[in-house]
Amino acid sequence: MPRHDLQSSDITPESVYVDRRRFLAAAGLAGAGVLAAGTLARAAFAAGRPGQQKSLGTPYGLQPNDTPTPEEDVTSYNNFYEFGTGKDDPAANAQDFKTRPWTVKVEGMVAKPGDYQLEDFLKPSRMEDRIYRMRCVEAWSMVIPWRGIPLADVIKRAQPTSQAKFVEFTTLLDPKRMPGQRYPVLDWPYNEGLRLDEALHPLTLLATGVYGKDLPPQNGAPLRLVVPWKYGFKGIKSIVRIRLTDRMPRTSWALANPGEYGFYANVNPAVDHPRWSQATERRIGSFRRLQTLPFNGYADQVASLYSGMDLVRNY
Ligand code: MTE
Repeated sequence: MPRHDLQSSDITPESVYVDRRRFLAAAGLAGAGVLAAGTLARAAFAAGRPGQQKSLGTPYGLQPNDTPTPEEDVTSYNNFYEFGTGKDDPAANAQDFKTRPWTVKVEGMVAKPGDYQLEDFLKPSRMEDRIYRMRCVEAWSMVIPWRGIPLADVIKRAQPTSQAKFVEFTTLLDPKRMPGQRYPVLDWPYNEGLRLDEALHPLTLLATGVYGKDLPPQNGAPLRLVVPWKYGFKGIKSIVRIRLTDRMPRTSWALANPGEYGFYANVNPAVDHPRWSQATERRIGSFRRLQTLPFNGYADQVASLYSGMDLVRNY
């Protein structure tokens, strides 16, 4: 389906549409490299009907026609194999998952390793609400209002040594509490990684909330990674360890199927998955099919991280 066959003015009340134009201009500012939420004066993104508008946060990199995916879809259509492999399994099976108390180890090549209590991450003064486009490797996408802190804050506090080149993330391993880990679907615990410069990029978030509330378990409570220019599987959930290292971390999906899932996993419509096209995506909660954008629409901010790299080989 061509992307521009339906204008957002066709489906959105006009006052909301006009508001959106204003807020999308703020998103354009972000595109020019002004990434701090403060400088955008916390421009609110209005959703819903006039008179019922809610502030969901600052829009980052949104495109015309991008509206936040309904909360019911964000919290009921999930991938979280620790709670089952079906899209509706996590919401059903993770309901009673206890996320307090929660300790995150920050370790490896850092001057200040430590065990952090979740409350260290949850300081309201450090939280930002940001609306990001999200693209799953399975060719569906959402627009999600996250709440979190820049991962760079946490990493800088630990003071990486000059040898540190990568960051490895690990999910809780506890088959009693995460019943999916009783089955050998993946090599548990779920593991992910970023290059240090990717981890320090101001768009990279450690999310603790969604839609202005604490994360529900199915979305990765109490703490998960959000990297909006990469496929969703990089967004590891329920993190208990962050380790700085000089070696490229082994990641769960690359271990499971190296020909299909690479370390970089940058959204790239020009490089198909071996079993399906990555050129378009289905936007959850709407009937639209969209063209997928390089780096999921964040090329202005992140393409320079990869200058000189062969992104077909480094998929
Ligand atoms: N993290 C863990 N620990 N286990 C998982 O199965 N699935 C990944 C990622 N993080 C996954 C995970 C995949 S494939 C996607 S698309 C996103 O989580 C989905 O995040 P969402 O459910 O909040 O949309």
